[in-house]
This record gives sequence, C-alpha cells and structure tokens, in this order.
Amino acid sequence: MGALLILLLLSLPCAVGGAAVCRSCPGPLRNGSIVAEYCASRPGTESEGRCCRERGARPERLLGLDLSNCSLQNLPPGLAEASSAAVLDLTENPMTTLPYGSFLGFTLLQLLAVPLPLDCPGGSGAWEKVTTSGSSRLCQGQKNSCNSSREPAWLCPENAACAPDGPSLVQCLCDSPFHGYKCLREGTFPVLLFCGVLGATTLSLSLLLWGTQRRKAKAP
Ligand SMILES: *[C@@H]1O[C@H](CO)[C@@H](O)[C@H](O)[C@H]1NC(C)=O
Ligand SMILES: *[C@@H]1O[C@H](CO)[C@@H](O)[C@H](O)[C@H]1NC(C)=O
Ligand SMILES: *[C@@H]1O[C@H](CO)[C@@H](O)[C@H](O)[C@H]1NC(C)=O
Repeated sequence: MGALLILLLLSLPCAVGGAAVCRSCPGPLRNGSIVAEYCASRPGTESEGRCCRERGARPERLLGLDLSNCSLQNLPPGLAEASSAAVLDLTENPMTTLPYGSFLGFTLLQLLAVPLPLDCPGGSGAWEKVTTSGSSRLCQGQKNSCNSSREPAWLCPENAACAPDGPSLVQCLCDSPFHGYKCLREGTFPVLLFCGVLGATTLSLSLLLWGTQRRKAKAP
C-alpha cells in the first residue's frame, strides 16, 4: 500500500506533463523571438509556454526554448530539460556570464541568441557563423569539436571514439566490446552474473533473517 502511494507520487510529475523549464518564465513565446519564428516556420510544431515542441510526439521532444526578456541573471536550473532544442533565445536578460559547460548535451542546438555582451558558448570558434543584431549575438551552426584541426584527436583513450557533446564539448565513447575505466576492460558487462550474485545474497540473507526471527517468536 505504501509502495503504491510512493509510485503514484513519483509518477505524478510525468502525468502532468510538459517540461518545467517551459514555465520557468511567464507568458507565451515572444513575438519576433527566434524561437517563435522557428516554430511558426515549421509544420507539426506547437508552442507551450516558452517552448516550441513537436506536436503530439511521445515522449515529447522540445525543439525550441525562448527565455528572452525574463530578467535572468543566470541560466535556470532546469535548462538541461531543453537539451534536445535546436533553437534557444536568451536575449534581453541581464546575464553576465555563461559558465563553462552550461550547454553540455545540447548537441542539436543550431541557433542560439545571447545578450550582446556575452560571447557564444565555447567561443566563436565553436560555431560556423557568429553575427550581431541590435542587442543580441547570434551563434549559428554548431561545429563538431571532434573534427577540429585545432587539436589533434581529443585525447580519448585507445579503444574509444570522440563524440560531440555540445558547443566545443566532447565525450569519449568506448568502442564495443570495451568498457569501464579508460575503456580498458574487454567483453560485455556480466549483467547476468552480477544480478545472480546479488539475488543469491539477498535470498540467503532473507532466509537467515526469517529463520532467526521465527526462532525468536517461538521462544517465549
Ligand atoms: C504577435 O503577432 C501576431 C501576428 O503577427 C499578432 O496578432 C499579435 O497581436 C502579436 N502579439 C503581441 C503580444 O504583440
Ligand atoms: C520586457 O518585458 C517587460 C515587461 O515584463 C516590458 O515592459 C518590456 O518592454 C520588454 N522588453 C522588450 C525589449 O521587449
Ligand atoms: C570534418 O571536417 C572536414 C573538413 O574540415 C569536413 O569535410 C567534414 O565533413 C567534417 N566531418 C564532420 C563529421 O563534421
């Protein structure tokens, strides 16, 4: 009964639906924001709060997030919810920095508008094209940092491949069948063995406890 209640409580936010980051700033998409333009120009999209998303897609995919003119001094804590976004607008906010790694995982981001005083994340070298317009700076077309001639191979260990992980950010993915620290372990992870040992331990512990408790219960 208790477990059921906990399960219900845990699944509640999912049932309500919609990413919280879409409501982190009041109002709908702002007229003229790059996100509103993007959403209006693409069929099969709809807006919800400050987000543009694929209509009716399950699980829903966020395509754009408009956080312009939201009095933001820092990026909102739930920004990672928007990591699938192609378009992101941060203009008209009194932000002073974009901390390193703020856009970790934003591999699909192709158009980002930041307040003019800020640089594009990762520097202009991380983008195909950087332009300015009014009080905003537009960062367009994310470059693949694994494929840069600037630095020879991204120091991924042997048996690993470099994969993009956001503007000027990369990750090292182990080539199959390697895994573990620095991709030095070979073979598939022994899931069955691991679960088997865990299960056997749990079972014998339970039996032991059951046995001792029963004896105690009989004693008086
Ligand atoms: C936004 O633009 C649409 C049409 O372009 C217009 O009907 C609407 O009133 C505008 N909204 C605001 C808040 O300016
Ligand atoms: C930003 O929003 C405020 C109201 O919250 C409004 O008065 C102001 O004109 C907006 N600024 C821009 C540039 O749209
Ligand atoms: C890597 O860069 C070369 C030239 O700079 C380009 O032709 C190629 O398409 C790039 N590959 C990827 C995966 O971005």
